[in-house]
Amino acid sequence: MENKKYYITTPIYYPSDKLHIGHSYTTVACDALARFKRKQGYQVMFLTGTDEHGQKIQDKAAAKGVTPQEYVDEIVATVKDLWKTMNVSYDRFIRTTDDYHMESCQKLFTQLYEQGDIYKGQYVGHYCKPCESFWTDSQLDENGKCPECHRDVYEAHEEAYFFRTGKYADRLLKLYEENPQFIQPEARKNEMIAFIKQGLQDTCVSRTTVPWGIPVPFDPKHTMYVWMDALTNYISALGYKNEKYNDYETFWPASVHMVGKEILRFHTILWPAMLMAMGLPLPERVFGHGWLLLNGGKMSKSVGNVVDPVVLCDRYGVDAIRYFLLREVPFGNDGSFTNEALINRINVDLANDLGNLLSRTVAMCEKYFGGTVTANGQAGEFDDQLVAVLKEIPGNVTKAMDDLLIPQALQEIFRGIQRANKYIDETAPWTLAKDESQKARLEMVLYNLCETLRISAILLSAYLPDTAPKMAAQLGLDPDHLDFADLEYGKVTSYTVSKGEALFPRIDVKKELAELAAQDEARKAAAAAEAAAKEAAQAPAQETQALEHLPEIAFDDFAKVEMRVALIKECENIPESKKLLKLTVFDGERDRTILSGIAKWYKPQDLVGKKVSIVANLAPRPMMKGKYVSEGMIIAADTADGGCTIAFYPQDALPGAAIH
Ligand code: ME8
Ligand code: MG
Repeated sequence: MENKKYYITTPIYYPSDKLHIGHSYTTVACDALARFKRKQGYQVMFLTGTDEHGQKIQDKAAAKGVTPQEYVDEIVATVKDLWKTMNVSYDRFIRTTDDYHMESCQKLFTQLYEQGDIYKGQYVGHYCKPCESFWTDSQLDENGKCPECHRDVYEAHEEAYFFRTGKYADRLLKLYEENPQFIQPEARKNEMIAFIKQGLQDTCVSRTTVPWGIPVPFDPKHTMYVWMDALTNYISALGYKNEKYNDYETFWPASVHMVGKEILRFHTILWPAMLMAMGLPLPERVFGHGWLLLNGGKMSKSVGNVVDPVVLCDRYGVDAIRYFLLREVPFGNDGSFTNEALINRINVDLANDLGNLLSRTVAMCEKYFGGTVTANGQAGEFDDQLVAVLKEIPGNVTKAMDDLLIPQALQEIFRGIQRANKYIDETAPWTLAKDESQKARLEMVLYNLCETLRISAILLSAYLPDTAPKMAAQLGLDPDHLDFADLEYGKVTSYTVSKGEALFPRIDVKKELAELAAQDEARKAAAAAEAAAKEAAQAPAQETQALEHLPEIAFDDFAKVEMRVALIKECENIPESKKLLKLTVFDGERDRTILSGIAKWYKPQDLVGKKVSIVANLAPRPMMKGKYVSEGMIIAADTADGGCTIAFYPQDALPGAAIH
């Protein structure tokens, strides 16, 4: 076991968006794996970082009026903060704008060019900015859009360098065949095979229209294609072709690249082909996990449904969120994020099963034994069953982690916790406590519960790094030494417990959901108010102007005007006039006809059903040579361009209501 290496990577994140809980999903999974491997005694390199070049970033920076470098610097700081909040124990953080990474990429590009794996050609096709992907005509979806994200693509015709991906098609197929674990889960492998078999094209690996990228060293009007730049991070971060680090020999090839399913193709086709061309060893496996969905769709800022992991950690605690991410969705599948599911996990698994087991155990140890219990009690019925489970669990958890089945690993740990809760029901310690002759039996029961909690805490320390030490502290163990070497049942023979705070307070579901809904409403209202304020601020400054005034009147004179709300029931153009519309309005009492000179600005169908103010006591006025009689007037205002605009009432205004 000594000196075994484990190199695990997350994708490097585009710093173009605020990270949401979906991004945390990959990173937290990698973190659990990294912690687990460290506990197993591996020398671990856990790499994460940011993917900072490309058209998308360039556009976002331009929209914000800052340089791309300024733009990414600001976001990268928030990315690092997020990983800190979520207790992500990465060993190295790479930014693709780091000099050493750019140096590695340039050297790699030059070598591939010199050996003929990169050649100069002409690119004719389509480019999807959000995916940073090139597509040929036949690859576009049925609407001529990106086949991955179904957004607009744009035409690209330019001189470009190409990488001979096609040349490696057979070797890639052979790689998958000879290394069944290379692409996981299994089902995704077939998609990749099908992709290759439809005819693997060479990859366009340079652009002349995207200045925000790594210059091609021997032809600097070109910048490197972002995916070639990004994938190289996995070796540049170890010091491959740069002087910054010296870990390439130690850690390459990667034990696992963890990626979302939509970028599996880059990692299982382009990346191994690049490595083959360079003559480098290939990663041991690439795991394509599913998406965390929100309302049935993939989370993204562009669809406007970001779930902020910082807010969630703040509200429920980081380990509750980590637990949900690691436990809820079968790893590899898609799954949904909902508040109900999150609260349910917290209440059932964390507060009830785990939290209660600890608090009940500690409370009983204190109440019946002044806090100290030892292994010298009296064995009895049910002990064997509990102990048998405890002995199975570490092996099963390890096996699940080897297969990257993180939810199964947690389920297995919780099997022990649930078994112990059942053991409490079976042994009924409160009944044993009433009988002095059962004291030794009671002590054994409590000791077994402490052992369950201790073994659980050791295993959980890889997943819940905040909670496991708190469990240890309440059990009177050293919180800093939750070692896998101590997983054996019976390893600790005496406990002196001390009660602490509840690990996970139970959440009142109804109250919580109501509060979240109210918060959501408030957030929406605040966003709407902000948008309105922004619009108002952008409106052209209003200049004062000289208005035309009428002579002053007495209130009694004004009171002679009868204004009422009326409902427009019918409306039509009349053949005799281009200016007039003929309206039938209900004034609360009866229908009346009004002719109004608004035909230039309103269409009949836009007015029917609307509520307006009318002057109801105007003397009827014959119009169009007496063909029509107008029985009132609709109130409208002049607009700046010489038009007119009608003030409509909300639907709760009652026809006939007086206006004063
Ligand atoms: O793809 N559920 O970066 P990225 C689960 N820069 N995973 C999700 C998710 C969700 N709702 N949303 C995003 C890139 N992810 C490239 C990687 S690697 C050489 C270059 C995952 O910021 C997504 O699947 O768009 C991907 O694995 C990761 O977050 C980074 O996504
Ligand atoms: Mg992406």
